[in-house]
Amino acid sequence: MIGLPVTAVCAAAPPHVQIFDTTLRDGEQSPGCTMSVVEKLEVARQLAVLGVDVIEAGFPAASPGDASAVRAIAEEIGETSGPVICGLARATDADVATCIAAIAPATRSRVHVFLATSSIHIAHKLRCTPAELIERARSAVAHARSVVSDVEFSPEDATRSDPEFLLDVLAAVIESGATTLNIPDTVGYATPGEYEALIARVCALAARTPGVVVSTHCHDDLGLAVANSLAGVQAGARQVECTINGIGERAGNASLEEVVMALHTRTDHFGIATRIDTRELMRTSRVVSACTGAYVAPNKAIVGANAFAHEAGIHQDGMLKHASTYEIMSPEAVGADGSTLVLGKHSGRHALRKRLSAMGYDLSEERFLEAFARFKTLADRKKVVNERDLAVLATGAHEHAPSGWILQQLQVTCGTHLIPTATVQLCDPDGATRVASCTGNGPVDASCRAIDAVVGDIGELQGFSVRNVSEGLEALGEVTVRVKDFHSARVFVGHGAHTDVVTASAEAYVDAVNSLLYTRDSHRSPAKLTAEGAGQPLHSARQAVEMS
Ligand code: KIV
Ligand code: ZN
Repeated sequence: MIGLPVTAVCAAAPPHVQIFDTTLRDGEQSPGCTMSVVEKLEVARQLAVLGVDVIEAGFPAASPGDASAVRAIAEEIGETSGPVICGLARATDADVATCIAAIAPATRSRVHVFLATSSIHIAHKLRCTPAELIERARSAVAHARSVVSDVEFSPEDATRSDPEFLLDVLAAVIESGATTLNIPDTVGYATPGEYEALIARVCALAARTPGVVVSTHCHDDLGLAVANSLAGVQAGARQVECTINGIGERAGNASLEEVVMALHTRTDHFGIATRIDTRELMRTSRVVSACTGAYVAPNKAIVGANAFAHEAGIHQDGMLKHASTYEIMSPEAVGADGSTLVLGKHSGRHALRKRLSAMGYDLSEERFLEAFARFKTLADRKKVVNERDLAVLATGAHEHAPSGWILQQLQVTCGTHLIPTATVQLCDPDGATRVASCTGNGPVDASCRAIDAVVGDIGELQGFSVRNVSEGLEALGEVTVRVKDFHSARVFVGHGAHTDVVTASAEAYVDAVNSLLYTRDSHRSPAKLTAEGAGQPLHSARQAVEMS
């Protein structure tokens, strides 16, 4: 369905690749990523700081809520020097009018009209003749152009459309005044070679009319969204539509951070970059993750927790000698805190000494060798040795005891006719034991509430995932929890593993709480953990009964 390549470069192409961010429109369409107006505004503010060229703020005709969110963003962010504020519209007068009204407050605004062009969509969805479709596209673009000077047109499902018909539609909308031709790979079907060839043909058409920009819009159903977008740039596209963290319909859209860093890291290859402030990428990823509740996979390129982490001993050694051995871009370039040498059982002395010294522990050779021996023993038991553990190893304060609160006992009752109730016994950092009981929505909730009753109500459980790490009836369940600190809003991750997943969950929760408290207290004393609120009167909603 995709035609042969025609090499062409668009006339009057801007000297950089414009980044059109659609996190608030296509991204928000992903399951569970719905955002409130306040959250959308927070994301839009950060996108402006990041330096995107266009913010697609929403689809105003989709709902009154969408329209008012687009309007709020147009009012606050749409100032002269800021990004263009864009709204999506179907090719109808009503949609275009609603969109124009919503984006009106922005100084620089854009209407984005879309209409499907593939025979599949025409036959099953639009049920019109090709001539009627061209007329609809022409008329909607002309309507938008009568009010707004910046109008984008997208032939939905372009990559599964007959290329000759697609080019006829595009020629018609150029005549009606479209200034950007966006080519969606709506169902993530194209391969990079096919997409590059198609974009080259569209560029050849666009080149006849000065000022018309060709744009990519790729979905990730086959994991090719970023590769296809970059292939489009190579063919002459000068706008890339993408989302933060790659969120979007089904498998998502091209990830903004990946497209941007590919262009910036490989300018030798692409010969063109963007105007994005790459140091804001990590922060933007976090803002979007926090506002949507969609977590970023640890191995996600550019913004994943492990994107700059090196665990293998040989890699760590190379990194310590020169970062260029295993890093093609610096963590600072994307606003990450710094590459992390994950300390685990594969780590060597050099890495441990370096981390301890960064934490402020400059140990004598004898003390260091003792700490290293204890580190290896601990690393055999724990997957990852964290800073809290290292502080204990370095001070030698509790040679054999894990740092922080320790879950000593957990007793849970639950069932079809029982209110889930948990009783926990925890040992505090000074060795004293504390017991509390709580009810909850389920056994895990009751256990976390009981732990809160002992350590203080310090954070909110935000995420919970279980996976089995071995096979059979004796399988170990590994639980990962995410707890958001009420004070700093930072999210702390905790892990626990046990044959009983409720126990694993309670262990994971205590692990996250210890990390949180350690971080809060690290300015005071690395080995001592305290909770503001610990031992204070309990939150009444928690129905907690402090027993000792
Ligand atoms: O994927 C798609 O086709 C779209 C259009 C509305 C641009 O998101
Ligand atoms: Zn899309």
